[in-house]
Amino acid sequence: MSTDSSLLKKYDVPGPRYTSYPTVPYWSDSPTQAQWIHEIAAALDLNEKNNIGSAVYVHVPFCRSLCTYCGCNTRIARSNAVGLPYIETVLKEWDLYLEALGGRRILLKELHLGGGTPTFLSASELEYLIEGILSRSRIADHPELSIEADPRTTSEDQLRTLSKLGFKRLSLGIQDFDPRVQEIVHRVQSEEQVRQVTETARQLGFTGVNYDLIYGLPLQTQQSVQQTIEAVRRLRPDRIAFYAYAHVPWIKPGQRRFTEEDLPSGDEKRALYELGRRQLEESGYREVGMDHFALETDALWQSACNGKLHRNFMGYTPELVAPQFGLGVSSIGDAWTAFAQNEKLLESYTTRVERGELPLLRGHLLNEEDRILRKHVLNVMTTFGTDWSSPELQTPYLQSVPEKLAEFARDGLVELTASSCRVTDKGRPFLRNICMAFDARLSRQAPKTQLFSRTV
Ligand SMILES: C[S@@+](CC[C@H](N)C(=O)[O-])C[C@H]1O[C@@H](n2cnc3c(N)ncnc32)[C@H](O)[C@@H]1O
Ligand code: SF4
Repeated sequence: MSTDSSLLKKYDVPGPRYTSYPTVPYWSDSPTQAQWIHEIAAALDLNEKNNIGSAVYVHVPFCRSLCTYCGCNTRIARSNAVGLPYIETVLKEWDLYLEALGGRRILLKELHLGGGTPTFLSASELEYLIEGILSRSRIADHPELSIEADPRTTSEDQLRTLSKLGFKRLSLGIQDFDPRVQEIVHRVQSEEQVRQVTETARQLGFTGVNYDLIYGLPLQTQQSVQQTIEAVRRLRPDRIAFYAYAHVPWIKPGQRRFTEEDLPSGDEKRALYELGRRQLEESGYREVGMDHFALETDALWQSACNGKLHRNFMGYTPELVAPQFGLGVSSIGDAWTAFAQNEKLLESYTTRVERGELPLLRGHLLNEEDRILRKHVLNVMTTFGTDWSSPELQTPYLQSVPEKLAEFARDGLVELTASSCRVTDKGRPFLRNICMAFDARLSRQAPKTQLFSRTV
């Protein structure tokens, strides 16, 4: 189904991607270091009693060169010498957590290395980092260990080491295979390069390969997206993140290196997604949540079917794992009752860890209303609907939601009752807009400056 162009225009506004609620710019009640540890300890006590393990996310910010579309926290580094000192700092941060938690050995269910580019680190550096985290923890049954990798800087040696350490999931940054698009975004890589990394990983025992694609990049056309998806079909990853390009040049000046005139317009951008979706579905992929696709054999699709799908700072995940520790520069931790983000500047992060402090920059202690609204935002993002008829899911703000969504209902985007909403197929492209109706903090205080990318 193609989306009506007048609806795309009407609902194309700046809006959050809702990888958390409240969204980061609306965090207001920062925990102290002691409060943060208290919240983490409470989450550990609650979950470990039921044998539920935690997740650790490690941010490795380094990249060899800048892809001009990039919205991530990165540091371009030409020398390998930065890797080892950074790992030492991350391991020290992990030690600070374990000490503050009274020397307990955390039950670890998931470890994710993201970035930046974790495969900037050599095989032996990766081993040192991963061993350093795992050896200080108890490992849960069937742990999920995953890494984001740039196919241009991923060697067989690194993949072998990761596989030996138990990594089974690999996420490759692809974005687009069209040479014209690759050149303008300063990210040139061939299908052959990607094939080699994918096949080597599979031979070494990786069972879940994800590709990141982006639609809405400069110079992309229907034809270039079609060709990209055809290449993806040949390589057959298990999972695909098909992200909407987030254009935020006021935060990421690198995005000013191409002209905005080369960006597909709202209508064209949506048409690129719909073309990609059609092709992926014809090839056996199932759409999961907002911008993800998975084969039916993949855990993401299975958890979407059995109602366990979750969304956090990393995007969609097969299940809720809490707490989530965020290690490394700019990482975000989630204790479920509170969030905290590390210093975003590498030098500040390093200095604070070296001083023996947790390098927290800001955070948020969720109040009762936040917790209830987060549940509804999560429901909309993962199951395309929510219901607030039961007393524990109610809070006074929700009384205003039907009025806020009335226009969406008139446009056929949601089916609405006084205490529930269900997103229709026609409403799927507007999930972010629909979540905005549940966002009490955004509704009480409109942003004074540009904060978010546009929703279409
Ligand atoms: C940390 S990067 C991936 C790993 C590795 N650095 C690479 O590029 O291959 C995570 C993903 O974020 C996505 N991404 C980065 N900037 C984006 C933007 N402005 N809009 C949408 N997605 C973006 C890309 O798909 C990218 O692969
Ligand atoms: S897309 Fe990946 S490799 Fe490119 S700058 Fe961003 S994090 Fe680095």
